[in-house]
Formats: sequence, C-alpha cells, structure tokens
Amino acid sequence: MQSTGKNLKIVVDNLTVSYDDEGPLDAQTILFIHGFPLNKSMWEHQIESLKENYRVIAYDIRGHGSSDAGKENYSIDLFVADLLRFMDTLHITKPILCGLSMGGYIALNAAIKYPEHFAGLVLSDTQCLADSSDAKRKRMNTIENIQEHGVEIYAEVSIKNLFSSESFTKNKKEISQVRDMIVGTTAQSLSYTLFALSERKGTCSKLQDIEIPVLIMVGKEDKITPPVAAQLMHEKIQGSQIKVIDHAGHLANLENPVEFNYQLKSFLQQFDEKPLALTLARGLALSGY
Ligand code: MLT
Repeated sequence: MQSTGKNLKIVVDNLTVSYDDEGPLDAQTILFIHGFPLNKSMWEHQIESLKENYRVIAYDIRGHGSSDAGKENYSIDLFVADLLRFMDTLHITKPILCGLSMGGYIALNAAIKYPEHFAGLVLSDTQCLADSSDAKRKRMNTIENIQEHGVEIYAEVSIKNLFSSESFTKNKKEISQVRDMIVGTTAQSLSYTLFALSERKGTCSKLQDIEIPVLIMVGKEDKITPPVAAQLMHEKIQGSQIKVIDHAGHLANLENPVEFNYQLKSFLQQFDEKPLALTLARGLALSGY
C-alpha cells in the first residue's frame, strides 16, 4: 500500500527524492514545486489548507531540501524529466501543478512538453522570459560570491529581495524559515541551480498552446518576477486568470497565505464540479430520468 505523510522517501531512477503526500489518495492531486533556493516546506500553509479535500504532494527538487543531489549537470529539462519520473513512480495521473518561480519554470516547461499529463496549472511569482545577458552575468557573480563568502552571506542577500517590505516586520517566522532553507542547501547545489536558471529558455512563444485551466498569482511587491511579468503570461495564455496578492513580495504563498489559499481554492473548484456533475448524471441515469 502507498504511504502518506511527511518527509517520505522514494527512489526514482537511483535518485532519492523526499516528499510530503497528504490527503485522500483518490482525490484530485495538487503537485507543488518549490522555488529557488527553497524546499518543499515552503508549501506547509497550502498543504494544511487543502489536505482535507485534495491529495497534496510537495517534493524536493534534486539538490534541495532532503532529496539527493545526483551527479548530472542541472537544467530545467533535467528537473522536468525528474518530475515526470517522480509522477510515474508514484502513479500520479493528471495532477494540477502549482509552481512558484523556479517551480513555475518547471511547471510551464512540463505542461508545454507533456500537455496530456496535467489537468491544470497554478503559476505563482514566475515568468516566461529567459534571463537577459545582464541577469546571466549577475548569476555568474552570485556563483563566485557563494564560493568565496559562503552560503550564510548569500542567504542574507537573497532574503532582502525575496520578501515585501512589510514582511520584515510581520512575517519574521517565515523569514527565519526561508533563511534555514537557504543555508540548508549546499554551495554546490546553489551554484549548479543558478547555472541551470541562467541557461533556461524562454517559454513565452509557447504559451498560446496551453489549453488547460491556468491561474497566475503574483505578490504585488514581487521584485524578482514582478506583476508585469505575470501580466505578460496572462495575455498569452488563453482563458487564464490573474490575481495580484497584496502584502506580498516574491513568496506570495508564505507572505499572505490567507489570500493565496483563497484564490487557489476558488480556482480548484472547477475541478471538483466535474466529478459532481458526472455523479449527478450517473444518478439520474440510474433512476431512469
Ligand atoms: C526562484 O524563486 O525560484 C528564483 O528567484 C527564480 C529565479 O531566480 O529566476
């Protein structure tokens, strides 16, 4: 029998992947993909809020949290392949992918490459643009700084950009959790992932092909992938919804979980309606109407 709970381990093609799997096994699955350089624990507010009605799974991308780092060079394509292998191993069919930032890059690439595998997409604080040459150069400088000055200093610098100004007084616990997530990542994984992010291809020209329901969310004060980047995706994805989350920067789900969860649950309702309509139709057919 398949286990559920927190910090489970599964071996996927020789790589040990750590994941949380909660909620009823036969319910619609929501599969959460974290941002850089965080881990699956960034989704705890969403898992708590959804697990009664949905199967909620959050996993650690290789080199993050408690998953193995592996030996390959990192790329968004490798992270997408890992996601598909993880889904296969756990027999997850047609999940709704919810990715934040780097998790959004992975979710978008997966949905574009394997559209038949996914029921819906939630894209939070992410974008379809590739890195500019300036952004690539900054990532290379960051890699050098991490090698030279260590992960702790890198964590302090990144935190300044990840949160909205008001989070520094209101969300101290979340800031401390994020600091722990960053310092728990090795310098090597940080560097490999920064390189993968700098090399990623843009997906803007492919967004018109997405046919599944899409919700885009963005923190109003997101400095890394600002509302204008979310708006660009919204214009290109037919029928997508966009919600700007107040009192939040780049980590909208952590900084304003109440609003984030409200928008997420509202979006998810459309997936509950289908089985209900089917059940009603079946009931009517059985009773001879
Ligand atoms: C993230 O939160 O995943 C990163 O900010 C993504 C990026 O740097 O492009």
